[in-house]
Amino acid sequence: MIISPTDLEVTDLEADAIVVGVDAQGTLTKEAQEVDVATGGMLARLVTQEEISGKLGKVTVILSPPGVKAGQVAVVGLGESRQFGRGQAFRAAAAAAKRLAERPRRRVAFFLGDGWTEQQVESGVCGAMVGCQGQDLYRSEKNLHAIEEILWDDAYEAVLTSGQILGESINLTRQLVNEPPSRIYPESFAAEAEKFAEESGLEIEVWDEQRLEDERCNALLAVARGSARPPRLVILSHMGGDPGDPILSLVGKGVTFDSGGLSVKTTDSMKTMKCDMAGAATVFGAMQAIVRLELPINVIGLAGLVENMVGGDSYKVGDVISARNGKTIEVLNTDAEGRLVLADVLDLAIERRAEKIIDLATLTGACMIALGTDVAGLMTNDQAWCDAVRAAADDCGEGVWQLPMFPDYYDELIHSKVADIKNVGEGRWAGAITAAKFLEQFVGKTPWTHIDVAGPAFLENPKPWLDAGGTGMFVRTLVEVARRWNA
Ligand code: BES
Ligand code: MN
Ligand code: ZN
Repeated sequence: MIISPTDLEVTDLEADAIVVGVDAQGTLTKEAQEVDVATGGMLARLVTQEEISGKLGKVTVILSPPGVKAGQVAVVGLGESRQFGRGQAFRAAAAAAKRLAERPRRRVAFFLGDGWTEQQVESGVCGAMVGCQGQDLYRSEKNLHAIEEILWDDAYEAVLTSGQILGESINLTRQLVNEPPSRIYPESFAAEAEKFAEESGLEIEVWDEQRLEDERCNALLAVARGSARPPRLVILSHMGGDPGDPILSLVGKGVTFDSGGLSVKTTDSMKTMKCDMAGAATVFGAMQAIVRLELPINVIGLAGLVENMVGGDSYKVGDVISARNGKTIEVLNTDAEGRLVLADVLDLAIERRAEKIIDLATLTGACMIALGTDVAGLMTNDQAWCDAVRAAADDCGEGVWQLPMFPDYYDELIHSKVADIKNVGEGRWAGAITAAKFLEQFVGKTPWTHIDVAGPAFLENPKPWLDAGGTGMFVRTLVEVARRWNA
């Protein structure tokens, strides 16, 4: 995709379509007003008739408008102007792009940025790229057609470039999630990582089974045992700072398919389980953006890649595993596999001198019961670090909400009668929190924030601004955290 600035008048620009905005009060933006004048008051009339809506993400297309050189005008709702931020900019541009992408378009020009901050323009560009990319990788007739050339009114080249980098990284994450599990399994996932690492200049280390054994990653290996596909552990690093600078560590759950293992899932709950590597894919997307943005900081991204399957050598209910950090774990449900994988990867993050850690994982259905499908759960052992992560997510417009970690109530729920801890809580209560309590056992005193993305990582139905499937959510938040690191 080509993205470039334009300073042509909105009415003079030759393109398949131009995009202008209207807010929730029905106020047309500057360029929308110019289109209104050129069309003899058509836009204002349609707003009065409530044919054009200013609701965030509503798109009204006007074909062959008089007085305008472009083939059509898409008027996109910007929502409440008082609440307008980067999240709204992303969604509005994405919704317009998605609507226009229903047919192939050579060139679409966005005239939204009047009064937008640079950060909002960046988010808009990023949204436009994400909105027009669909999940239909294997359909011969596509639902969505990526726009070939995007023009953005009155924007700095550098802002467009960073918006494009973010958009490409989000789409990388989405594509990895959307690929079927027959194509993305631990080895092939690691091979994809090697490919983009080389292209973007990230350092990469891939651990195979032998290395995982030598490194005592027994919890990760236990989960992998039921599968014919051997596990991998990927370490990406970008040392953009000084050698002694603190290291930000991003950790992702990379279960390329979660059948539940011997505690096997139903077909219905398995349907979306190719998405169980979304945490790892999000870390990969963020790492790619961070290196391409040349952020002057030290970041390491780690992902544990396994397939949770049923086999003659599957790990069993009742097994006791000794994790990399020496803690013993009683396995009472093989479907609580993500925390076992993360246990060893978090321990490695500490060994690699993480100053602070964020992990992302499609960890629990319980988190979706608590917060729904659009909002991720935050859990932490360090309130200041969690506040920093939350502030970044809030500014990007990605929904997060913190859940408590009270030791008095929750610590005892993972006590085991035969080992140090067990891999499930008591019954189904506080399932998102007991999973986090388990992870907390592997980070020591290092400030750590866990993001349970079970809900927002994957959409079962499309939104006006985003096709169904992998969402790439939290790539922007992670990059925002990285931008603020050291600052
Ligand atoms: N990958 C699932 C969690 C999940 C569920 C992600 C739905 C996305 C959508 C995880 O490995 C899992 O199976 N968790 C169990 C834990 C339970 C056995 C303690 C769950 O949530 O039911
Ligand atoms: Mn599971
Ligand atoms: Zn899982």
